[in-house]
Amino acid sequence: MTPEPLSPIGTDEPTATPPPGCPAHGIGPDGLRRLHGKEAEDLGAVYEELRAEHGPVAPALLHDDVPVWVVLGHTENMQMLRTPSQFCRDSRLWTAVQDGTLKPDNPLMPHIAWQPICCHAEGDEHVRLRGAVTDAMEAIDHRGVRRYINRATQHLVNKFCETGRADLVSQFAEHLPMVVMCEILGMPDEYNDRLVQAARDLPKGTETAIASNAYVMDVLMRLTAARRAESKDDFASRLVDHPAGLTDDEVGQHLRVVLMAAYEATANLLANVLRVVLTDPRFRAQLSGGQMTVPQAVEQSLWDEPPLSSVLCYYAKQDTELGAQRIRKGDGLILGIAPGNVDPRVRPDLKANMKGNRSHLAFSGGPHECPGQDIGRAIADVGVDALLSRLPDLQLACEEDELRWQASIFNRHLVELPVKFAPKPQQDAMAGPAHPRPPQRPSNGQVGSPQPQTATPEPATPAAAPTRTPEPASRPGLFRRLLRWWRGD
Ligand code: HEM
Repeated sequence: MTPEPLSPIGTDEPTATPPPGCPAHGIGPDGLRRLHGKEAEDLGAVYEELRAEHGPVAPALLHDDVPVWVVLGHTENMQMLRTPSQFCRDSRLWTAVQDGTLKPDNPLMPHIAWQPICCHAEGDEHVRLRGAVTDAMEAIDHRGVRRYINRATQHLVNKFCETGRADLVSQFAEHLPMVVMCEILGMPDEYNDRLVQAARDLPKGTETAIASNAYVMDVLMRLTAARRAESKDDFASRLVDHPAGLTDDEVGQHLRVVLMAAYEATANLLANVLRVVLTDPRFRAQLSGGQMTVPQAVEQSLWDEPPLSSVLCYYAKQDTELGAQRIRKGDGLILGIAPGNVDPRVRPDLKANMKGNRSHLAFSGGPHECPGQDIGRAIADVGVDALLSRLPDLQLACEEDELRWQASIFNRHLVELPVKFAPKPQQDAMAGPAHPRPPQRPSNGQVGSPQPQTATPEPATPAAAPTRTPEPASRPGLFRRLLRWWRGD
C-alpha cells in the first residue's frame, strides 16, 4: 500500500490519522508518532510500527514535537546520502529552524545547530574542510597504529587482570579509543580519566556538557597553538600545515570533530563486539567449524547494533520524492542507520550471519561517509583480539538478559559488561601478548581467540605474532630498537 503522502512540516498537507487499533499513546499533533519521551523507550519497535504504517520513509515527531521524516529503508537511506543535489546537512535550510518551530533550547540543538565544520558543510567548502581531514588521515601509519592499539590494550588489561573481574565498558571500551585517538592526534600525555569523562558527557546536552566542551576545546586549542609554533609528525600538525589553510579555530573545531566522532562511536562498537564475542553462539561454537572471526563479529555488530543509530539530520534542498513520500524543500530527514540495517527487504532473516558483509549503514555513505572507519575497525579488531589473547578464559559474569542498555535517538549502548576470568599477572605492555592464543576454542564455552582470528592483516607485522617474546633488553641497543618497533618508526 502506498502510504498517504504527508508533510511533517504540517502546512497544507492532509493530516494523518492513527490507523485503526493504534494505541493512542505515542501519537502527537497531526496523528504523528513521537520518537521521544516515554512512548519511544523502545525505538526499534516504534520504527517497525512506522515502517508498517508508512513504508520506508515515515513522518514522525522529534523532541518538542518538531515534525521530521525518518528514513527507514536501506535503499532510501542510500539514495538520500548519494544525492547531494537534493539532500544536504546544512540545518539552516530546515523549515523548523527558519520558522522557529525548533526552539533554541531544544535538547537536540547541540546536534543540529549549524557550525562551520565539515559535517555541516557542502560543495567546495566541504571539499576544503573534509579534504584537510582526510589528507591528514591518509598520512597515518596504520601499522604503527595497530601496534599502538595492542600496546594500549596491554596497559588497560594490566589495571584489572590481577583481580579476576572487570567491567569491560568502563574499564576498557570507554578508554581504548581515547588513548589511541590522543596518540594519533598528537597529544598522548593529555589522555586521562577527565578527558574520557568529558568526551562521554559532551554529546549529552546536559548542563555539565558546557564545562566538558570547554575542557576538551582548551586541550585541543593548546595542541593547535603548540603545532602552529612547531610542527611534528602527527595529525594535528598535518591539519595546521595543510594547503587548505585552516585557521586556528577551524583546526581546533576539526580536532574536536575527529576526537568526538571517533571516541563515542568506537567505544560503543568495542562494547558491542565484546558482547557478541561473549554471548553469540556463532562466535562461541568454534569447535563445530562454523566460527565467526573477530572482524566478522565487528561487521555483524555494525549491522545489528550500529554504534550510532541515527544521524540528525539531512535536509531537502528542493521539492522531491523519497520512498513514495512527497518531500518538501526545507523538510528534515533523519538518517535511520539502525532501522535501515534491519530493513526486511535487505535482511529478510535478521538471525542470518552477515559473514563480514560491509554494506550496512553504520558509517553512512555519500560525500559525508565516515572517513575514519578503518581506524574504528582497527581499534575494535586489534583491541578485542589482544584482550582475548591476554584473557582467553574471559566469561560473562552475569546472565545475558541481565545486561542493561541505555538508549537515545542517537545510540543504544551497554551500561556495563561485567566479566570474570582467572586472575593473571601484569605483563610488560611493550612485550606484546605473552600467552599464545589457543588453536581452538575450549569446549567449556569460555572465550578464546583461535589463530584465524588474528586481527592484524599484515602477516609480517610483529604485532601479529602473538607468541613473540622480546629478547632480554640487556643486549646493547635492543631496548631502543624495540621501542622504535612498537612505535612503528
Ligand atoms: C566504529 C566507529 C565509527 C562509526 C560507527 C562512525 C560513524 C560515522 C557516521 C555515521 C558519520 C556521519 C556521516 C554523515 O553525516 O552522514 C561519521 C562521520 C565522521 N566520522 Fe566517523 N565513525 C566511526 C569512527 C570514526 C573515527 C575513528 C574517526 C576519526 C579517526 C571518524 C571521523 C569522522 C569524521 C571526521 C566524520 C565527518 C565526515 C563528514 O561530515 O564529511 N569516525 N562517522
